[in-house]
Amino acid sequence: MNSLIWIISILFRICNCLDNGLARTPPMGWLSWERFRCNTDCTNDPDNCISEQLFQTMTDLLVAEGYASVGYEYINVDDCWLERNRSPEGNLVPDRKRFPSGIKALSDYVHSRGLKFGIYEDYGNYTCAGYPGIIGYEKEVALQFAEWDVDYVKLDGCYALPIDMDKGYSEFGNLLNRTGKPMVYSCSWPVYQIYAGIQPNFSAVQTHCNLWRNYDDIQDSWSSVENIIDYYGNNQDIISANAGPGHWNDPDMLIIGNFGLSYEQAKTQFAIWSILAAPLLMSVDLRTIRPEFKQILLNRKIIEVDQDGLGIQGRRIYKHRGIEIWSKPVGPIYKNFYSYAIAFLNRRTDGTPSDISVTLKELGLLNTYGYRVEDLYENVDYGILYPNTKIKVKVNPTGVVMLKGKVKFSYN
Ligand SMILES: *[C@@H]1O[C@H](CO)[C@@H](O)[C@H](O)[C@H]1NC(C)=O
Ligand SMILES: *[C@@H]1O[C@H](CO)[C@@H](O)[C@H](O)[C@H]1NC(C)=O
Ligand SMILES: *[C@@H]1O[C@H](CO)[C@@H](O)[C@H](O)[C@H]1NC(C)=O
Repeated sequence: MNSLIWIISILFRICNCLDNGLARTPPMGWLSWERFRCNTDCTNDPDNCISEQLFQTMTDLLVAEGYASVGYEYINVDDCWLERNRSPEGNLVPDRKRFPSGIKALSDYVHSRGLKFGIYEDYGNYTCAGYPGIIGYEKEVALQFAEWDVDYVKLDGCYALPIDMDKGYSEFGNLLNRTGKPMVYSCSWPVYQIYAGIQPNFSAVQTHCNLWRNYDDIQDSWSSVENIIDYYGNNQDIISANAGPGHWNDPDMLIIGNFGLSYEQAKTQFAIWSILAAPLLMSVDLRTIRPEFKQILLNRKIIEVDQDGLGIQGRRIYKHRGIEIWSKPVGPIYKNFYSYAIAFLNRRTDGTPSDISVTLKELGLLNTYGYRVEDLYENVDYGILYPNTKIKVKVNPTGVVMLKGKVKFSYN
């Protein structure tokens, strides 16, 4: 698809999308899963087990370390917060040892720090880790979440039939709506259907969910990040137009600052996720993250690309011999010329930076008044460049150079 058709399809996109007033830009926050998994051993590992204390600590650090001030907002609990059995009345019970104060108290704690609170459940009989799911109790669970003042619900899809999900995920979304408490609704509906060989009905998904997973769980490795990048590039014609304010594709958590990514690779994950207008959910130990990784997560210019109000998911516009170029239209717009964020990605591993030279015109930047171009990681200002200007960047192996070209409205 050439870029003109792409822009036209964006301008004329009509969708009957979920409008609960939430997630108008991709949600940002912290989610426990990738880093802390299902560690329930608070006896031997009290500082890292899934417990109210862990979430309180991360809440405090999100505020104290400056993450909240650049937009990270949700503190999200993932799997393994529950007792194995419901109460005799059929209610969900948080683990009595690890969440002794209960979920409402934790939610209040998060709110008292000016943040929002998210929780995890599963559409099926059990959560992926084997705790009680919602099937048969959908209405009760929705009401319980509302009573706990939950702001965000991630609904997984283990122990359920993918064929039932069109009905199940939509109904639970309606039940959340009927509680009257606005809750971001994160669905795993498409990914389970895709794995089962069912083509998801994305117009239905957009009508009911604020975000949804399309592909594998992220793991703590560069190869996992690469697989996700390839999936989103290879399937962009099918999925990228589904994203927009209130409804997003979710390529899964940021693993920046953990064990598996180098500094270059961490910059790459952040750059590509922002091009994809992805939710920015960190899953990292905020107590021990190294400063250079923290700086990536706090990069305001790249966050601004992710959070751009137009909400257009970017695309891979070039891929050849290990070099990729990714592009995202952003504001401001002059006539029909967008501004753009551009990520140059070097997938090669031959040990020396690769040069990429390209004219702005070749990147689809055609405004004759030009663009103010800056580097978003290096604080290099290229000044005003025109469609025929050739730019040359040096991209480190498995790394990225990220630029933004802001459209000019006149020659001055
Ligand atoms: C869920 O549990 C019910 C009742 O035991 C059972 O009939 C159903 O097959 C289960 N569903 C799945 C997907 O395992
Ligand atoms: C419920 O849905 C209606 C119609 O889409 C919407 O206007 C409203 O904000 C929603 N309310 C909540 C609590 O999600
Ligand atoms: C997909 O969902 C939409 C909206 O819910 C519905 O109108 C349409 O019939 C569905 N399409 C298919 C092929 O099931």
